[in-house]
Amino acid sequence: MQTINQLDALEAALAPLRAAGRLALVPTMGALHEGHLALVREARARAEAVVVSIFVNPRQFGPGEDLAAYPRQLARDAELLAAEGVNVLWAPEPVAMYPAGYATNVSVGGVSEGLCGGARPGHFDGVATVVLKLFNQVRPHVALFGEKDWQQLAVIRRMARDLDLSRPAAGAIIGVPTVREEDGLARSSRNAYLSAAEREQASALPRAMRAAVAAIAGGTPVASALESLGTALLAGGFASVDYAELRDAETLAPLAALAGRPARLLVAARIGRARLIDNLAVG
Ligand code: PAF
Repeated sequence: MQTINQLDALEAALAPLRAAGRLALVPTMGALHEGHLALVREARARAEAVVVSIFVNPRQFGPGEDLAAYPRQLARDAELLAAEGVNVLWAPEPVAMYPAGYATNVSVGGVSEGLCGGARPGHFDGVATVVLKLFNQVRPHVALFGEKDWQQLAVIRRMARDLDLSRPAAGAIIGVPTVREEDGLARSSRNAYLSAAEREQASALPRAMRAAVAAIAGGTPVASALESLGTALLAGGFASVDYAELRDAETLAPLAALAGRPARLLVAARIGRARLIDNLAVG
């Protein structure tokens, strides 16, 4: 595996890989866990060569968020990726990504609004901007993202359709199912912020979400299922709930009831220093 942090070196490393076959990109912010490794394995199954990017993107963190605290462990991440057979680790410094004079922002409307977009103003502009840059730098045939960030996946697909991207095309942006711990908690780099006691309490999130999914599927009105979910999280040790909503799985339009199309329950809640997000299919 080659570890590269300059754009010209990236281009030189990718040229022979592009000539030899399909290229997959797995964009990450590092602090890799089983969820990321599932993306890498899926990438290897879909392409001859795999590029993983590790870049803690300052533009997607708001003032007062956890940019400085975000876990950084490049040497350990590189070992994990080499063991998975990754060809190139693209790990630029912020100045390589956003040189002096950088002035462009990519903003996706509609699917970016509400949910994490409401709780974290500007977050999805930062995500769309860096992901479009990564797509242009690597020009992968296929790109893989975790379904844990459901709204992010919808934003990136919308951007690819709206901007007529061809490398990757919108249809080659692949969502990979969330990898969970034994108690159901979604794997996340931010789980590292939890104390042992908070980690135990955090299992209330998947538990309460599964109960809400079952209640809605069983005919309980959506509003009352969501209210019970919020109550269960606060009783289970969460400090606050940013949102708990039922949305159309694709358009992310809010749903007051199941409407015969795939729906998704999406939740963000805070415990200790962590803000955890998760989502589940409904119906
Ligand atoms: O999901 C993430 O880790 C990030 O939002 C991404 C897609 C790598 C963009 O910085």
